[in-house]
Amino acid sequence: MALSLKDIKSPIASEMDEFEKKFRSSMKTKVMLLDKIMSYIVKRKGKQMRPMFVFLSAGTCKQITDSTYRGASLIELLHTASLVHDDVVDDANYRRGFFSINALWKNKIAVLVGDYLLSRGLLLSVDHKEFDLLKIVSSAVKEMSEGELLQMEKARLQNVTEEVYYEIIRQKTASLLASCCAVGASSSGCENGTIEKMREFGEKVGMAFQIKDDLFDYGQEEIGKPLGIDIKEKKMTLPLIKALESASWSDRRRIRSIMRSDKKSKKKVQEVIDFVKKSGGIEYAQKVMQKFYDEAMEILNSFEDSVYKQSLGQLVQFTIERNK
Ligand code: IPE
Ligand code: IPE
Ligand code: MG
Ligand code: MG
Repeated sequence: MALSLKDIKSPIASEMDEFEKKFRSSMKTKVMLLDKIMSYIVKRKGKQMRPMFVFLSAGTCKQITDSTYRGASLIELLHTASLVHDDVVDDANYRRGFFSINALWKNKIAVLVGDYLLSRGLLLSVDHKEFDLLKIVSSAVKEMSEGELLQMEKARLQNVTEEVYYEIIRQKTASLLASCCAVGASSSGCENGTIEKMREFGEKVGMAFQIKDDLFDYGQEEIGKPLGIDIKEKKMTLPLIKALESASWSDRRRIRSIMRSDKKSKKKVQEVIDFVKKSGGIEYAQKVMQKFYDEAMEILNSFEDSVYKQSLGQLVQFTIERNK
């Protein structure tokens, strides 16, 4: 039977409820326009997997503390900020099953809203003098910006190798998931070696997480955000990189020229998708995703058994099996 987030959440159900209240109150503002947008964001919440990683990591390492809650809020604020900005960058008008912030209020406002969310996150840890937490998360924010920019640079040049792809996704996605687990561990009061082990675990999960996200782009399932958009935006992801590697000279030439063009018809996008599918690019990406999953589980296995560890393992499984 398919895993549900609700079941996985059961050992931390009350913590997640409490988290949501705190998360909401951390977005309060007197500026009316901003308040309206914040309510909109809170109403259309995402899967909240990152706070779950924070709580479950803390529980797995030692215990959930007050500082775990702030870690969870801080990370979900930064994650939300990064999505608001990402939709501007990717020119995406659909997110979490509804219009994105840039689609409804335009880019100018979306940029400022992203900055606001980021600053509220940073203030949350400064106000509580939690500088360990701030340090872990700030380095992730830096990496996320670098990752998105590296991706843009490579999209322009269309020369992404498999190695560069891993570097991009490690920076833009895995760094934040690594922080989730490190922040959870650090907030639990465990020792540095354990924090580092949790960080490595989270990074593996994050790699698998982004490969799964990139696979969605080739599917037809409704996932609450646009499909085929990576191809439209010239983003080369693992399935395509692998497919091009073994392609004939003429196929490579044709696909490259479609990828390079600024405006692509539905038919052209479909042509790239069909090419990737018949070249085995999807299966290859699934295999790599599975490898990261296995590596993550191996690290997790070295922790002492508990209900938290059990759920954390399920959450990793959910990461690669989810349908949105
Ligand atoms: C989307 O993350 C951004 C990526 C790193 C691919 P999620 O899939 O966790 O987004 P929400 O929060 O559930 O909407
Ligand atoms: C991951 O990139 C998002 C961030 C690191 C902010 P994507 O552009 O692939 O994410 P989605 O698919 O729009 O959620
Ligand atoms: Mg995007
Ligand atoms: Mg994507």
